[in-house]
Amino acid sequence: MENQSGKTALITGASSGIGFELTRCFARDNYQVIMVAHFPEKLQEAARQIQQEFPNVLAHTIAVDLSKDNAPDKLFEEVQQHGWQLDVLVNNAGFGEYGPFSESDWAKESAMIHLNVISLVHLTKLFLTGMLNRNNGKILQLGSVASFMPAPLQSVYGATKAFILSFSEALQEELKDTDVTVTVLCPPATDTNFFRVAGAENSKMVQDGSMASAEEVAAGGYEALMKGDARAVPTFKAKMEVAQANILPDSVVASMMHKQSEEKKPKKTAGKKESTKASAESLAMAETETGTKKKASAKSGKAETSGTEAAAKKKNSKKKD
Ligand SMILES: NC(=O)c1ccc[n+]([C@@H]2O[C@H](COP(=O)([O-])OP(=O)(O)OC[C@H]3O[C@@H](n4cnc5c(N)ncnc54)[C@H](OP(=O)(O)O)[C@@H]3O)[C@@H](O)[C@H]2O)c1
Repeated sequence: MENQSGKTALITGASSGIGFELTRCFARDNYQVIMVAHFPEKLQEAARQIQQEFPNVLAHTIAVDLSKDNAPDKLFEEVQQHGWQLDVLVNNAGFGEYGPFSESDWAKESAMIHLNVISLVHLTKLFLTGMLNRNNGKILQLGSVASFMPAPLQSVYGATKAFILSFSEALQEELKDTDVTVTVLCPPATDTNFFRVAGAENSKMVQDGSMASAEEVAAGGYEALMKGDARAVPTFKAKMEVAQANILPDSVVASMMHKQSEEKKPKKTAGKKESTKASAESLAMAETETGTKKKASAKSGKAETSGTEAAAKKKNSKKKD
């Protein structure tokens, strides 16, 4: 195996969904890929799939909980120790939390702010210096259509995505005379593990809406990244949503988003109840966006609260109500 393109991309949240599909885009172009995510087993499985599909590509894995304060430093040090020089940084790892703010889970929201905002900014700072010294590099930040509008029932999540857009647009201006580019990918609702982790599977947005595929979202983001575009809003529907948010008053958009995000009464289907003992890791492993459904790995063993873990706890507590 060799790094045929001579280029290296680090992708956070590469174990499923949009991050996994972005990893496939890089692998297809013979990048050496450094795949980062929280749960090691799921990450290894994703890397194995990449390796199987692209046997000539070097796929490395680093498992780290990026919602922790010192995690970006640790990740940066590990990359330095291996002597890897990044041509591309993809800040994709992220999750949401669904529900009225007065009732939502602070532990999960705090971890979300750390992951979606603090880690993203910190990793950008750590890797940007090297890119600027070489006057070469590309950074892809995962925003959302929610970057452009208030997101009732996902208020904190929406705010993290608005932050990412604002931060990245300021950076684009600061870097405009360099060959380092920053691109913001703003997907619409996309069919990944996201809504399950957020606890939003029963929202009208999911139940009634048509979702984009992770593959088409990643393809749009990758193309924009390679061109050095400022922004990618994949799919016609997403472009319409952003245009609408730009035209209508925020209060009107907020009201529309609220209605879309409300919970749709779940159908009572006997025999389809999930086990209340489902562990966080089984939730993470049960259905990955890498295609096939997998058996849950059964044991968790982690004491920290991450998005996926908190999602499992919330699900279980809801069932008790
Ligand atoms: N799906 C949508 O509708 C949508 C729309 C707009 C924007 N986005 C954004 O797209 C990005 C990717 O989400 P997705 O839809 O592909 O969801 P996903 O399938 O749940 O993927 C999330 C990825 O982030 C990783 N991750 C989560 N918490 C982490 C942590 N604490 N430390 C390290 N890695 C962590 C996950 O790995 P583990 O399983 O190991 O935790 C997984 O690889 C997110 O930033 C999300 O906000 C999604």
